[in-house]
Amino acid sequence: MSTLSFRNVWVEYGNQVVLERINLEIASGTFLSIVGPSGAGKSTFLRLILGQERPTQGSVLLDGRPFPAEPGPDRGIVFQRYSVFPHLTVLGNVLLGYELASSPLTARLLGTARKAAVEKSLALIEAVGLAEHCDKYPSALSGGMQQRLAIAQALAKQPRVLLLDEPFGALDPGTRAQMHALIKPLWREHKMTIVMVTHDIKEAFGLATRLIALDRPRKDPQAPERFGARITYDLDLTRDSAVPVLGFIRASLQAAQ
Ligand SMILES: Nc1ncnc2c1ncn2[C@@H]1O[C@H](COP(=O)(O)OP(=O)(O)OP(=O)(O)O)[C@@H](O)[C@H]1O
Ligand SMILES: [Mg+2]
Repeated sequence: MSTLSFRNVWVEYGNQVVLERINLEIASGTFLSIVGPSGAGKSTFLRLILGQERPTQGSVLLDGRPFPAEPGPDRGIVFQRYSVFPHLTVLGNVLLGYELASSPLTARLLGTARKAAVEKSLALIEAVGLAEHCDKYPSALSGGMQQRLAIAQALAKQPRVLLLDEPFGALDPGTRAQMHALIKPLWREHKMTIVMVTHDIKEAFGLATRLIALDRPRKDPQAPERFGARITYDLDLTRDSAVPVLGFIRASLQAAQ
């Protein structure tokens, strides 16, 4: 179980309202995509789940309880551009994920525990198609390979919730398609909740089981900071009836750009 609940969440920076009145329940095991114009507050929304950001009002709960004050290994994040450690090899990066998951303070595993973690790391590296590159440093990998490594490292922490902030945005179409083929089975196998921000609505439809759009329904041209973004669409993509709405969302997002 890892139900995420947003209860009347507002985020304000000074007098700028970024998010307002966000109410949402994300069931365990959901693959949720978030779309919305630039500046709508999508990354802010992810940071709320990560625990890096506190709501100005309202609360974000995991299984009905407030998050611990510090971001923990139960939540992992992959950004648009490579968030791996340059001084560690492919194996070192993934192994660190396991070490952080089992001993967050020292990030050290010894003896049989380490051996088991190395084996699990190798299996994960194989799953993301990097088996031949175990001993390479990130600087010797292509962008798509580094992104696959970032995903493997995040998965090694065995997060209950995986946050993806435009994770495939910097990749060419071919590599992007490969990543799509990779992420869905990993999501199923690890039984995680995934929350993915994307600018690509086709990607959102192709991968997710639920899609929300964040946008400002009210605008004050004299004071653009006055109103924040709200959830303007919330679609269950497992139902065929969601498909006709695709065009509406695309049009409304383009109008907002
Ligand atoms: N730490 C901060 N202090 C002040 N303002 C901030 C801070 N973080 C974000 N903002 C503002 O909040 C708004 C939403 O930012 P956010 O990064 O969440 O948007 P986004 O939807 O992820 O945009 P993009 O699609 O361009 O990544 C922006 O106007 C931004 O300037
Ligand atoms: Mg962003």
